[in-house]
Amino acid sequence: MKIVVTGGAGFIGGNFVHHMVNKYPDYEIINLDLLTYAGNLETLKPVEDKPNYKFIKGDIVDRPFIFDLFEKEKPDIIVNFAAETHVDRAVVDPESFVRTNVTGTTTLLDACKEYGIKRYHQVSTDEVYGDLPLDRPDLFFTEETPLHTSSPYSAAKAGADLFVLAYHRTFKLPVTISRCSNNYGPYQFPEKLIPLMLSRALANESLPVYGNGENVRDWLHVADHCEAIDLILHKGRDGEIYNVGGHNERTNLEVVKTILKALDRPESLIKYVTDRPGHDRRYAIDPAKLETELGWKPKYNFDTGIQQTIRWYLDNEDWWKRILSGEYSSYFESMYGERLQ
Ligand code: NAD
Ligand code: TYD
Repeated sequence: MKIVVTGGAGFIGGNFVHHMVNKYPDYEIINLDLLTYAGNLETLKPVEDKPNYKFIKGDIVDRPFIFDLFEKEKPDIIVNFAAETHVDRAVVDPESFVRTNVTGTTTLLDACKEYGIKRYHQVSTDEVYGDLPLDRPDLFFTEETPLHTSSPYSAAKAGADLFVLAYHRTFKLPVTISRCSNNYGPYQFPEKLIPLMLSRALANESLPVYGNGENVRDWLHVADHCEAIDLILHKGRDGEIYNVGGHNERTNLEVVKTILKALDRPESLIKYVTDRPGHDRRYAIDPAKLETELGWKPKYNFDTGIQQTIRWYLDNEDWWKRILSGEYSSYFESMYGERLQ
């Protein structure tokens, strides 16, 4: 089995490459990544010398390059993680999200159509469903919840999902889609909530909480997401969507306070800053389909997973400190400079 994993130098794609390379020595895993600001080959160090792993640098939007790759490699499966993923960046530059998330997806789908494929899997997000009210804890996203996006990021991801489903219906392409809630764990780029707060708390810097900190996210350990995708690739039904989430809802303030407590830092580091425009209130996944149909069960709950994750960031300071000293420092200044004054 030959699997092309796009975006495998990013957070979840990198964890997925580790998972697949170690679990399936007989599979060939090709990591195709453009190495944007979010891509980091240091994440792949633990697997880079394995005989069943190969890295190729390239852009999923580059049609001649992608068609050439399919011609040469003849992959059996594509797992598409490659995307622009940060909601705050999407507010500043929506177009780059259309380019990678939509055009990148249709380019891959066209190559699958041309050369044939056993399975195309699209890694999507619960953000395509929009948000839920804070005062209705009884409501959850199911696979039937209508798409109702709020940000240019989620709009582009929803657009991609619709193309994936259209290629299934129109061209009979064997596809699956997973829509997962917020991930946390090793190798997450420090612009996202948990590694951002961890790295800043360790440096005794202020922690920028948007609005009143009451927005709710449904956190899933990245290892449980990887296991879900592995299951869907092997047992999922063509044309189906699977929601992935572990019922671990927390307000942002609860997450930040958990991190402060674990690091023995004072809550006075919290700084409430101007809210994100269009900020989604609550995400909450109903994973019943994945559990009953494919037997998926998460290994981590948030309380154990966050402690393991904090330990990882403490033990791997080199990995994230190198990122903080690069291009990211000017991004942080432009995104937060005035808000933190
Ligand atoms: P990330 O930003 O950490 O990584 C994205 C990767 O894609 C990077 O390695 C980047 O170099 C690569 N990439 C970007 N543009 C590319 C292009 N044009 N061609 C090839 N490679 C390109 O993202 P992540 O958090 O690991 O998310 C991975 C996927 O999972 C995304 O599709 C995202 O929408 C989805 N997702 C993320 C979460 C989450 O909490 N992070 C939750 C649900 C779904
Ligand atoms: P994020 O990690 O960007 O993921 P997403 O927006 O895709 O859910 O943000 C998670 C939550 O944390 C979200 O409600 C926004 C909030 N947040 C802050 O309060 N401060 C920050 O500096 C960041 C990056 C996020």
